[in-house]
Formats: sequence, structure tokens, C-alpha cells
Amino acid sequence: MASIDLDSPTVSAGGNASPQAKQRVADGVAGLKSYGLLYGSSPIMLDLYEQIERVASTDATALIIGESGTGKELIARTIHDQSSRKDAAFVAVNCGAIPDELIEAELFGHEKGSFTGAVQGRVGYFEHANGGTLFLDEITEMAPVRQVKLLRALETGTFYRVGGTDLISGNVRVIAATNRDPAVAVKENGLREDLMYRLAVFPLRAPPLRERDGDRELLAQHFLVQLNQQEGTSKSFSKRSIETLRTWSWPGNVRELKNAVYRAFILAEKTVELPHPHLASRVKKAVTQGDAMSVWIGTPLADAQKQIILGTLKYCGGDKRRAAKALGVSLKTLYNRLSAYGDEGAEEEAEQ
Ligand SMILES: Nc1ncnc2c1ncn2[C@@H]1O[C@H](COP(=O)(O)OP(=O)(O)OP(=O)(O)O)[C@@H](O)[C@H]1O
Ligand SMILES: [Mg+2]
Repeated sequence: MASIDLDSPTVSAGGNASPQAKQRVADGVAGLKSYGLLYGSSPIMLDLYEQIERVASTDATALIIGESGTGKELIARTIHDQSSRKDAAFVAVNCGAIPDELIEAELFGHEKGSFTGAVQGRVGYFEHANGGTLFLDEITEMAPVRQVKLLRALETGTFYRVGGTDLISGNVRVIAATNRDPAVAVKENGLREDLMYRLAVFPLRAPPLRERDGDRELLAQHFLVQLNQQEGTSKSFSKRSIETLRTWSWPGNVRELKNAVYRAFILAEKTVELPHPHLASRVKKAVTQGDAMSVWIGTPLADAQKQIILGTLKYCGGDKRRAAKALGVSLKTLYNRLSAYGDEGAEEEAEQ
């Protein structure tokens, strides 16, 4: 069965001695530590810093596994910065954002005339990253047939450009990332098991914020210090904000926290009020009057869109076809949105 033991990396450097990762005490926030680009003082992060230190001194392929917003890209960049490759390129590629038919040419380059539209030859990401690190994000989104080519390049260190006949050898360290459980991705999403094992020579887990004891408050203070420095202000969190930091689970992880601090900072005169996302959605609901709707200043765009969709649906008496027409979207899009809102949407729909 395909599974990865996250507790026992198979590659280590420096013999048996556990290296003490060179953490720094971050400026500006008491008790906050940092390592490379990462901030956090929780035991789980200190452990991660040590693992990064071990893997950085090797050329092993690493697979970073973690929910969205947990800092996978920062971990990859930190590995690169701490490695002997730090002066060469770090090239980040989002495999999920490149159309399937283009990914091979993007990764390995192509020769002039190798496919329709290839008016000029082009070097691919593997060659751009030569001597450095290639970060393959959302690796599970790559079609299985393309994965075979990637696996071959990883195993042999060589590849052909699309339409080319010269075998090119590269010196590239590959770090991949996914927000899916790789074992599940093998079973359900077409991730090849051989590729998964090849990538996961050194698996690293990016912990979600809810497992990072004490880090929410430290990180929020860190982001606030940065904003204060940038803007020349001296804003501070209200007591209620500290409570929110402790009680909200931050499912969008550090990204959600960072954006929430940023938004609250912009809206604050002096005291930064971090609204509790659950309470906020109740308090800040749009106000509907006849066929008009007022959305509160500072409502996140995604929330505003949701309120407009649900409000219009209600105005149309629940007739989805009419609502879709009024909103200028297809019926399918409306269904997709409603299903993404899930129970929450249904609840609000019923309430409105
Ligand atoms: N430990 C951390 N210290 C400081 N900032 C962090 C940390 N982790 C994440 N961030 C910040 O949070 C945001 C999201 O990080 P990143 O893009 O690395 O996450 P990700 O895991 O790659 O997310 P996704 O799966 O959505 O691509 C970035 O702005 C990043 O700077
Ligand atoms: Mg990412």
C-alpha cells in the first residue's frame, strides 16, 4: 500500500548527530523564532526546522505535504536558501496551472517547429533551474502520462526537449509539494506510485496552524509589526482580537491569518480588531431592501459574491434558472457555487 512515514525520513546528513537547526530569534516579537523564511516557535515547527536543515545539506528529492496556506512554498525556498545551491536559481512551477498538453514542453523545453505554434525553440524549467532547485507545486495534478517523463528525468538526470534528439543532462534538485494525502492521490487521483516514492525520498509535513501551539498569536504579532514598520504606524491588537486568534481554528492556515491581519490593519485607526470569522459573517451580513442590497465596506470579495448570489436567489424566489440569468452566469456555475457554499449556504439561504 502506498503510504509515507512522515516521522522517519530516509535520508539524513551529518551522521547520527541531530543537528540543531540554526533558528534565530525573530526581531520585534518576544518569544518568536524563525528559520530561513519561516516563523514559528511551536515544538512542531522547531522539529520541522531540524528536518529542513538535514535535507538542505543533501541533494535528496523532497516532497512537502500540507494543507493550503501552511507555507509549503516557503519551506521549499528555505531548503534552497540553506543549501549549497543557494546562489543558483529557485524555479517554482505550479503543475496544476499548466494545461496538460503544454507541461512537457514547459518542463523540458522544446525545439523550433516541434508542435503547432512552436515558432521558436525554448528552454524549459529544468534547464532554467540548472545548478539550483526546481519546485514542482501541486504535483498530483499532473497527468499520469506526463509523470512517466518526469520520473525518467529524475532517475537518469537527463531528458530530451520536446522534438529534440540531444540528450540533455541537468543538475537539478527537485522539491515537490501537494495539499493532498499522497497515498489517497495514488488511489484516487492518478498519482503514479513509483513517482510518489521517487519524490518522497525525504517527506516533510507542513503542519496546519491548529497544531502549532502558541504560534497564531506570535505570527499575528509578527505580521502586525511588519505592517507597522512598512506604514510607519504603531497599531496594536484589541483584547478581543487576541481571543479570536486563540479560538478560531484558521482552516486557511497562515495565509488566512496573514490576510485577516492585513485587512483588519487597513480598517483600523489605532486598535486592530480581528473579527471572529463566524461572528463576523453574522454581524456583517449584507442588508437587503427591496431589489437593492448593501454590502458592508471591507467585506472580503468572496463573501460579497456569496451574499449577492444568495440574495439574488432569494429575490428570485429560489428559482435557480432565473437567478443564474440575473447574475449573468450559467446555471452550472450557480449550482457549483451553491454546492461550494455547502450547508453554510443552505443555512443562509433559509435565513435570508
Ligand atoms: N511559517 C510561516 N512564517 C511566515 N509566513 C508564513 C509561514 N507559513 C506561511 N506563511 C505565509 O503564508 C502565505 C502562504 O504560504 P505558502 O504560499 O508558502 O503556502 P502553501 O502551503 O504553498 O499554500 P497553497 O497550498 O495554497 O499553495 C504566504 O504569504 C507565506 O508568506
Ligand atoms: Mg503553494
